[in-house]
Amino acid sequence: MRKVVTIDGPAGAGKSTVARLLASRLGWRLLDTGAMYRAVTLAAIRAEIDLANEDALGTLAEGLAVRLPPGEVLLNGEDVTGLIRTVEITRASRYLADSPRVRAQLVRLQREFARENEVVAEGRDQGTVVFPDAFRKFFLTATLAERARRRHAEFVLRGEAIELAAVERDLRERDERDAARAIAPMKAADDAHILDTTGLDLDAVVGRIEREIVGEPESDPS
Ligand code: C5P
Repeated sequence: MRKVVTIDGPAGAGKSTVARLLASRLGWRLLDTGAMYRAVTLAAIRAEIDLANEDALGTLAEGLAVRLPPGEVLLNGEDVTGLIRTVEITRASRYLADSPRVRAQLVRLQREFARENEVVAEGRDQGTVVFPDAFRKFFLTATLAERARRRHAEFVLRGEAIELAAVERDLRERDERDAARAIAPMKAADDAHILDTTGLDLDAVVGRIEREIVGEPESDPS
């Protein structure tokens, strides 16, 4: 495994934006694991699979090629980058996130990705399950109100009409499910740095993370 920095935390905590900027500053690849769950969700909806059918979801995921070349999400070679950020995919993604076989398959792909690249890995379980030996681990949080505001602004920017209150309710439900899930629940690794991004701008958060990464020696053989 090459060098991995993990950034986990609840939806809307700023993980994606922070991880993208950090990866670009370090010259590393971004591993957006939420995009992988979203791509499999899109495939399941298109195939009209019963989202409660674990076997069907597992078989589907194991037969899919999900790839993340820089700036793109490819599902069996098709660029689905713009199709996976909708409210519908966001809501349905919980079924895929709860599926042990889907998780096992995506964890395999995530570790493969890190064999070939130095990565900033972003998700819910990157520091706890996927890369327990990561070089540095971060867990981003922010208040529910702030996270809802950020997510709502993203939906509005994409032209999706949804009330702020509905975004907040969706977020709360998703957080609860993510944290309570039996397999790979969302939680900070014991050795993660916890960063509350409420009221902080992007540069401030990335700056803090960079100082943790660059500011310390890699190893001391003596
Ligand atoms: O982060 P994002 O909102 O794109 O995540 C999409 C979905 O994938 C969410 O339902 C989240 O719970 C799930 N997910 C996960 N494990 C990850 C990344 C995302 O269960 N490592």
